[in-house]
Amino acid sequence: MFSLKDKVAVITGGGSGVGLATVKRFCEAGAKVIIADITDQQALADELGCRYVHVDVSSEESVKRLFEATEEIYGKVDALINNAGIIVPGEMLEDAQMDEYLKVFNVNFGGVLYGLKYGPAHMNDGGSIINTASLAGKIGFPGYGAYCSVKGSVIQVTRVAALELAERNIRVNCVCPSTIDTPMAHAEGNELELMLKDYVWPLGRMCEPEEIAAMYHFMAADDCTYLTGTAIDMDGGYKAGTGMKAIGKLTEGVEL
Ligand SMILES: NC(=O)c1ccc[n+]([C@@H]2O[C@H](COP(=O)([O-])OP(=O)(O)OC[C@H]3O[C@@H](n4cnc5c(N)ncnc54)[C@H](O)[C@@H]3O)[C@@H](O)[C@H]2O)c1
Repeated sequence: MFSLKDKVAVITGGGSGVGLATVKRFCEAGAKVIIADITDQQALADELGCRYVHVDVSSEESVKRLFEATEEIYGKVDALINNAGIIVPGEMLEDAQMDEYLKVFNVNFGGVLYGLKYGPAHMNDGGSIINTASLAGKIGFPGYGAYCSVKGSVIQVTRVAALELAERNIRVNCVCPSTIDTPMAHAEGNELELMLKDYVWPLGRMCEPEEIAAMYHFMAADDCTYLTGTAIDMDGGYKAGTGMKAIGKLTEGVEL
Protein backbone atom coordinates (compact mmCIF):
# COMPACT_ATOMS: atom_id res chain seq x y z
CA MET A 1 0.00 0.00 0.00
CA PHE A 2 1.30 3.43 -1.04
CA SER A 3 4.66 1.93 -1.91
CA LEU A 4 6.93 4.02 -4.11
CA LYS A 5 9.52 1.25 -4.26
CA ASP A 6 11.75 1.67 -7.30
CA LYS A 7 9.58 4.40 -8.75
CA VAL A 8 11.65 7.14 -10.36
CA ALA A 9 10.71 10.59 -9.08
CA VAL A 10 11.95 13.99 -10.25
CA ILE A 11 11.33 16.75 -7.72
CA THR A 12 12.10 20.32 -8.75
CA GLY A 13 12.89 22.74 -5.97
CA GLY A 14 13.94 19.63 -4.02
CA GLY A 15 16.51 21.50 -1.98
CA SER A 16 14.20 23.40 0.36
CA GLY A 17 10.74 23.58 1.90
CA VAL A 18 8.02 21.50 0.23
CA GLY A 19 10.47 19.96 -2.25
CA LEU A 20 12.89 18.91 0.48
CA ALA A 21 10.13 17.31 2.60
CA THR A 22 8.94 15.48 -0.52
CA VAL A 23 12.44 14.28 -1.39
CA LYS A 24 12.87 12.87 2.11
CA ARG A 25 9.47 11.19 2.17
CA PHE A 26 9.84 9.67 -1.31
CA CYS A 27 13.31 8.32 -0.41
CA GLU A 28 11.87 6.71 2.72
CA ALA A 29 9.06 5.18 0.63
CA GLY A 30 11.64 3.49 -1.62
CA ALA A 31 11.63 5.81 -4.65
CA LYS A 32 14.70 6.59 -6.75
CA VAL A 33 14.75 10.34 -6.39
CA ILE A 34 16.33 13.09 -8.49
CA ILE A 35 16.71 16.32 -6.52
CA ALA A 36 16.44 19.00 -9.21
CA ASP A 37 17.33 22.47 -7.99
CA ILE A 38 19.12 25.64 -9.01
CA THR A 39 21.18 25.49 -5.81
CA ASP A 40 23.79 22.76 -5.30
CA GLN A 41 22.21 19.85 -3.43
CA GLN A 42 24.95 17.25 -3.98
CA ALA A 43 25.64 16.92 -0.23
CA LEU A 44 21.95 16.32 0.46
CA ALA A 45 21.77 13.72 -2.32
CA ASP A 46 24.81 11.93 -0.89
CA GLU A 47 23.26 11.96 2.58
CA LEU A 48 19.92 10.54 1.36
CA GLY A 49 21.36 8.12 -1.20
CA CYS A 50 19.66 9.77 -4.15
CA ARG A 51 20.90 11.94 -7.03
CA TYR A 52 21.17 15.67 -7.65
CA VAL A 53 20.80 17.27 -11.08
CA HIS A 54 21.22 21.01 -11.48
CA VAL A 55 18.30 22.75 -13.16
CA ASP A 56 17.07 26.26 -13.73
CA VAL A 57 13.38 25.66 -14.35
CA SER A 58 13.00 29.04 -16.04
CA SER A 59 15.28 27.78 -18.85
CA GLU A 60 13.70 25.51 -21.45
CA GLU A 61 17.07 24.02 -22.37
CA SER A 62 17.93 23.32 -18.73
CA VAL A 63 14.64 21.46 -18.09
CA LYS A 64 15.13 19.44 -21.29
CA ARG A 65 18.59 18.41 -20.07
CA LEU A 66 17.18 17.48 -16.65
CA PHE A 67 14.99 14.78 -18.20
CA GLU A 68 17.76 13.51 -20.46
CA ALA A 69 20.05 13.23 -17.43
CA THR A 70 17.34 11.53 -15.38
CA GLU A 71 16.72 8.90 -18.03
CA GLU A 72 20.47 8.21 -18.24
CA ILE A 73 20.69 7.80 -14.46
CA TYR A 74 17.51 5.94 -13.52
CA GLY A 75 15.51 5.30 -16.73
CA LYS A 76 11.94 6.46 -17.30
CA VAL A 77 10.20 8.69 -14.76
CA ASP A 78 7.10 7.61 -12.81
CA ALA A 79 6.46 10.74 -10.75
CA LEU A 80 7.26 14.30 -11.77
CA ILE A 81 6.81 17.01 -9.15
CA ASN A 82 6.95 20.48 -10.75
CA ASN A 83 7.40 22.37 -7.52
CA ALA A 84 10.23 24.94 -7.78
CA GLY A 85 8.99 28.46 -7.23
CA ILE A 86 9.74 31.97 -6.04
CA ILE A 87 7.78 34.83 -4.57
CA VAL A 88 8.49 38.54 -5.01
CA PRO A 89 7.69 41.31 -2.53
CA GLY A 90 4.09 42.44 -2.81
CA GLU A 91 3.08 45.51 -4.79
CA MET A 92 -0.32 46.99 -5.51
CA LEU A 93 -1.50 47.03 -9.12
CA GLU A 94 -0.94 50.79 -9.40
CA ASP A 95 2.77 50.05 -8.89
CA ALA A 96 2.85 46.91 -11.05
CA GLN A 97 6.10 46.29 -12.92
CA MET A 98 5.88 43.94 -15.88
CA ASP A 99 9.48 42.89 -15.18
CA GLU A 100 8.45 41.54 -11.78
CA TYR A 101 5.49 39.70 -13.31
CA LEU A 102 7.72 38.12 -15.93
CA LYS A 103 10.28 37.11 -13.30
CA VAL A 104 7.65 35.15 -11.35
CA PHE A 105 6.09 33.86 -14.56
CA ASN A 106 9.38 32.53 -15.93
CA VAL A 107 10.10 30.45 -12.81
CA ASN A 108 6.67 29.52 -11.42
CA PHE A 109 4.94 28.94 -14.73
CA GLY A 110 7.98 28.21 -16.93
CA GLY A 111 9.01 25.34 -14.65
CA VAL A 112 5.57 23.76 -14.89
CA LEU A 113 5.19 24.37 -18.62
CA TYR A 114 8.62 22.97 -19.54
CA GLY A 115 8.03 20.03 -17.21
CA LEU A 116 4.79 19.29 -19.03
CA LYS A 117 6.42 19.83 -22.43
CA TYR A 118 9.51 17.65 -21.97
CA GLY A 119 8.67 15.36 -19.03
CA PRO A 120 6.08 13.03 -20.61
CA ALA A 121 8.46 11.80 -23.35
CA HIS A 122 10.67 10.51 -20.55
CA MET A 123 7.85 9.04 -18.44
CA ASN A 124 6.24 5.63 -18.14
CA ASP A 125 2.56 5.40 -19.06
CA GLY A 126 0.51 5.38 -15.88
CA GLY A 127 2.76 7.91 -14.17
CA SER A 128 1.81 10.93 -12.10
CA ILE A 129 2.60 14.62 -12.56
CA ILE A 130 2.02 16.95 -9.63
CA ASN A 131 2.30 20.73 -9.91
CA THR A 132 2.59 22.95 -6.86
CA ALA A 133 0.01 25.68 -7.38
CA SER A 134 -1.37 27.77 -4.48
CA LEU A 135 -4.52 29.02 -2.83
CA ALA A 136 -3.35 32.26 -4.48
CA GLY A 137 -4.25 30.66 -7.80
CA LYS A 138 -7.90 30.39 -6.74
CA ILE A 139 -8.52 33.59 -4.80
CA GLY A 140 -6.96 37.04 -4.93
CA PHE A 141 -4.61 38.55 -2.33
CA PRO A 142 -4.11 42.33 -2.44
CA GLY A 143 -0.54 43.16 -3.42
CA TYR A 144 0.16 39.73 -4.91
CA GLY A 145 -0.97 40.29 -8.49
CA ALA A 146 2.00 38.56 -10.08
CA TYR A 147 1.99 35.50 -7.83
CA CYS A 148 -1.82 35.07 -7.97
CA SER A 149 -1.95 35.42 -11.76
CA VAL A 150 0.81 32.93 -12.31
CA LYS A 151 -0.56 30.32 -9.88
CA GLY A 152 -3.95 30.63 -11.60
CA SER A 153 -2.16 29.79 -14.84
CA VAL A 154 -0.58 26.74 -13.20
CA ILE A 155 -4.05 25.44 -12.30
CA GLN A 156 -5.33 25.92 -15.82
CA VAL A 157 -2.37 24.33 -17.58
CA THR A 158 -2.72 21.37 -15.17
CA ARG A 159 -6.25 20.78 -16.47
CA VAL A 160 -5.13 20.99 -20.10
CA ALA A 161 -2.26 18.56 -19.47
CA ALA A 162 -4.59 16.11 -17.69
CA LEU A 163 -6.78 15.98 -20.79
CA GLU A 164 -3.88 15.69 -23.22
CA LEU A 165 -2.12 12.93 -21.25
CA ALA A 166 -5.20 10.90 -20.26
CA GLU A 167 -4.68 8.52 -23.20
CA ARG A 168 -1.35 7.49 -21.70
CA ASN A 169 -2.96 7.18 -18.30
CA ILE A 170 -0.59 9.84 -16.96
CA ARG A 171 -2.45 11.68 -14.22
CA VAL A 172 -1.83 15.41 -13.85
CA ASN A 173 -2.97 17.26 -10.74
CA CYS A 174 -2.00 20.28 -8.72
CA VAL A 175 -2.19 21.21 -5.06
CA CYS A 176 -3.27 24.62 -3.75
CA PRO A 177 -1.82 25.26 -0.31
CA SER A 178 -2.31 28.32 1.89
CA THR A 179 0.81 29.42 3.80
CA ILE A 180 3.34 26.64 4.34
CA ASP A 181 6.05 27.01 6.98
CA THR A 182 9.04 27.12 4.62
CA PRO A 183 11.77 29.73 3.95
CA MET A 184 9.46 31.23 1.28
CA ALA A 185 6.79 32.01 3.87
CA HIS A 186 9.37 33.91 5.94
CA ALA A 187 10.65 35.96 2.99
CA GLU A 188 10.92 39.72 3.35
CA GLY A 189 7.61 41.43 2.62
CA ASN A 190 5.52 38.49 3.80
CA GLU A 191 5.20 39.72 7.41
CA LEU A 192 1.48 40.50 7.23
CA GLU A 193 0.62 37.01 6.02
CA LEU A 194 2.52 35.50 8.95
CA MET A 195 0.70 37.76 11.40
CA LEU A 196 -2.67 36.63 10.05
CA LYS A 197 -1.99 32.93 10.20
CA ASP A 198 -3.47 32.32 13.65
CA TYR A 199 -6.97 33.29 12.75
CA VAL A 200 -7.26 33.50 8.96
CA TRP A 201 -6.68 29.77 8.49
CA PRO A 202 -9.47 27.96 10.35
CA LEU A 203 -7.04 25.31 11.63
CA GLY A 204 -5.19 28.19 13.31
CA ARG A 205 -1.70 27.52 11.99
CA MET A 206 0.42 27.30 8.87
CA CYS A 207 0.68 24.09 6.88
CA GLU A 208 3.86 22.06 7.44
CA PRO A 209 5.83 21.05 4.33
CA GLU A 210 5.63 17.41 5.47
CA GLU A 211 1.82 17.63 5.17
CA ILE A 212 2.14 18.57 1.49
CA ALA A 213 4.70 15.79 1.01
CA ALA A 214 2.19 13.29 2.42
CA MET A 215 -0.37 14.39 -0.18
CA TYR A 216 2.25 14.11 -2.94
CA HIS A 217 3.09 10.60 -1.74
CA PHE A 218 -0.56 9.58 -2.10
CA MET A 219 -0.85 11.23 -5.51
CA ALA A 220 2.30 9.52 -6.81
CA ALA A 221 1.35 6.04 -5.57
CA ASP A 222 -0.44 3.42 -7.64
CA ASP A 223 -3.29 3.53 -5.09
CA CYS A 224 -4.29 6.91 -6.53
CA THR A 225 -5.27 5.98 -10.06
CA TYR A 226 -8.53 7.85 -10.72
CA LEU A 227 -7.50 11.36 -9.78
CA THR A 228 -6.61 13.68 -12.65
CA GLY A 229 -7.15 17.30 -13.64
CA THR A 230 -7.80 18.39 -10.06
CA ALA A 231 -6.58 21.39 -8.04
CA ILE A 232 -6.68 20.13 -4.46
CA ASP A 233 -7.13 22.66 -1.65
CA MET A 234 -4.74 22.29 1.27
CA ASP A 235 -5.70 25.48 3.07
CA GLY A 236 -6.59 24.47 6.60
CA GLY A 237 -10.29 24.96 5.89
CA TYR A 238 -10.07 28.48 4.43
CA LYS A 239 -12.31 27.82 1.43
CA ALA A 240 -14.99 26.25 3.63
CA GLY A 241 -15.79 29.69 5.04
CA THR A 242 -14.92 32.03 7.88
CA GLY A 243 -13.42 30.19 10.85
CA MET A 244 -14.45 30.65 14.49
CA LYS A 245 -11.17 32.37 15.39
CA ALA A 246 -11.62 34.93 12.61
CA ILE A 247 -15.21 35.57 13.68
CA GLY A 248 -14.01 36.04 17.27
CA LYS A 249 -11.36 38.54 16.14
CA LEU A 250 -13.76 40.47 13.89
CA THR A 251 -16.38 40.73 16.63
CA GLU A 252 -13.98 41.62 19.47
CA GLY A 253 -15.61 44.31 21.57
CA VAL A 254 -18.87 44.04 19.63
CA GLU A 255 -22.00 43.24 21.59
CA LEU A 256 -24.00 40.61 19.73
N1 LIG B 1 5.53 28.56 1.31
C1 LIG B 1 4.29 28.89 1.04
O1 LIG B 1 3.59 29.55 1.84
C2 LIG B 1 3.65 28.39 -0.24
C3 LIG B 1 2.25 28.42 -0.33
C4 LIG B 1 1.63 27.96 -1.49
C5 LIG B 1 2.42 27.47 -2.54
N2 LIG B 1 3.79 27.47 -2.42
C6 LIG B 1 4.57 26.95 -3.54
O2 LIG B 1 5.30 25.82 -3.10
C7 LIG B 1 6.45 25.63 -3.94
C8 LIG B 1 7.66 25.38 -3.07
O3 LIG B 1 7.89 26.55 -2.29
P1 LIG B 1 8.56 26.50 -0.85
O4 LIG B 1 7.65 27.20 0.07
O5 LIG B 1 9.04 25.13 -0.55
O6 LIG B 1 9.80 27.50 -1.12
P2 LIG B 1 11.35 27.41 -0.78
O7 LIG B 1 11.86 28.77 -1.07
O8 LIG B 1 11.57 26.81 0.55
O9 LIG B 1 11.90 26.37 -1.87
C9 LIG B 1 11.91 26.67 -3.24
C10 LIG B 1 12.98 25.81 -3.92
O10 LIG B 1 12.93 26.09 -5.34
C11 LIG B 1 14.26 26.28 -5.79
N3 LIG B 1 14.25 27.15 -6.97
C12 LIG B 1 13.93 28.49 -7.01
N4 LIG B 1 14.08 28.94 -8.26
C13 LIG B 1 14.47 27.89 -9.02
C14 LIG B 1 14.78 27.74 -10.40
N5 LIG B 1 14.73 28.78 -11.26
N6 LIG B 1 15.13 26.51 -10.85
C15 LIG B 1 15.20 25.47 -10.00
N7 LIG B 1 14.94 25.55 -8.68
C16 LIG B 1 14.58 26.75 -8.21
C17 LIG B 1 15.00 26.92 -4.61
O11 LIG B 1 16.39 26.78 -4.73
C18 LIG B 1 14.40 26.13 -3.45
O12 LIG B 1 15.11 24.94 -3.22
C19 LIG B 1 6.53 26.88 -4.82
O13 LIG B 1 6.00 26.60 -6.09
C20 LIG B 1 5.63 27.88 -4.09
O14 LIG B 1 5.11 28.87 -4.96
C21 LIG B 1 4.41 27.90 -1.30
